[in-house]
Amino acid sequence: MEFNVGVIKGDGIGPEVVTEAVKVLDAIAAKFNHKFNYTDILMGGCSIDATGVPLTDEAIEAAKASDAVLLGSIGGNTATSPWYKLEPGLRPEAGLLKLRKSLNLFANLRPANLYAELKEACPLREDIIGGGFDMMIMRELTGGLYFGERSTVEEDGQLVARDSLTYSENEIRRIAKRGFDIAMKRRKKVTSVDKANVLDSSRLWRKIVEEVAKDYPEVEYEHMLVDNCAMQLVKNPGQFDVILTENMFGDILSDEASMVTGSIGMLASASLNDTRFGLYEPSGGSAPDIAGKGIANPIATILSAAMMLRFSFDLDREADAIEASVKKVLQLGYRTIDIMPRDGSVVTEVGTSKMGDLIIENL
Ligand code: IPM
Ligand code: MG
Repeated sequence: MEFNVGVIKGDGIGPEVVTEAVKVLDAIAAKFNHKFNYTDILMGGCSIDATGVPLTDEAIEAAKASDAVLLGSIGGNTATSPWYKLEPGLRPEAGLLKLRKSLNLFANLRPANLYAELKEACPLREDIIGGGFDMMIMRELTGGLYFGERSTVEEDGQLVARDSLTYSENEIRRIAKRGFDIAMKRRKKVTSVDKANVLDSSRLWRKIVEEVAKDYPEVEYEHMLVDNCAMQLVKNPGQFDVILTENMFGDILSDEASMVTGSIGMLASASLNDTRFGLYEPSGGSAPDIAGKGIANPIATILSAAMMLRFSFDLDREADAIEASVKKVLQLGYRTIDIMPRDGSVVTEVGTSKMGDLIIENL
């Protein structure tokens, strides 16, 4: 089959890790007889440098014209990069938010699982890890605080800043359905996370999630307050299957969940709308401190490409092949620097491009 893939290399380690993912996609195309056509799309700091804005209308059109988009990462060092002297709407992150909104990518899937091979990198104690953990954070991605009205104005001689948090029933319902659908394909448990003891938007969230849950009698569900969830993630991560939550809470909890796996360089993500289109990217950031050194872990981006094959192109066998190869390469003892064992076990440290080669060899 033939597919058009938009490729946003972005900033920092983005170009290095995307190069490896494209290499793996090409190997999959050769092995399984497909054709992937790539279109480079500018977004983030590199787009600011080239065009003055973090995302042009042409870039949005190019993304819309693709069957799916693979993204590396965007942004730079917020303390030192000139991009952060620009007004907020012109900074790299604004490009990503605009792309999410323009393509209606309301459902953000962020898996966080512990690889048995990488148990050593997990910062949690053995008795907490237990039998391991494997959760999916379903984050609402186009509403809430991120897209509400905001302003900073002077009132009575002092500056006052406002950000508004709005959710409509329909916005909550569509993400809740996605969450329960995904749970049906997993361990059939949904933990809906909110702050219903304080926020109206959370009370509405709870009400709608309860309505949606009625259509999924097989799925066990519970409500959890976000502060408790933050605690439970480090106390007993094994209790979670699908965590369903709004935009801001999902941003924070997904970083926490990925950190407890000890291997953020391994975690993929997908942002979906209600078509087959998706935007696929590693969960980690642009890591400007290690950019250009050839040491970044490309696995999260390679696994994001596998998610793209699975969710947007329906190529499950091909996605399985990539995931199996990643496991194999870990079993063979190859590691990038971020996932080196801390107990002194003997492994072979490899760089970004060698890791890509190994995953292709073991496909
Ligand atoms: C993420 C990032 C973005 C977000 C930033 C870069 C705007 O932290 O994808 O989690 O907050 O959504
Ligand atoms: Mg984040």
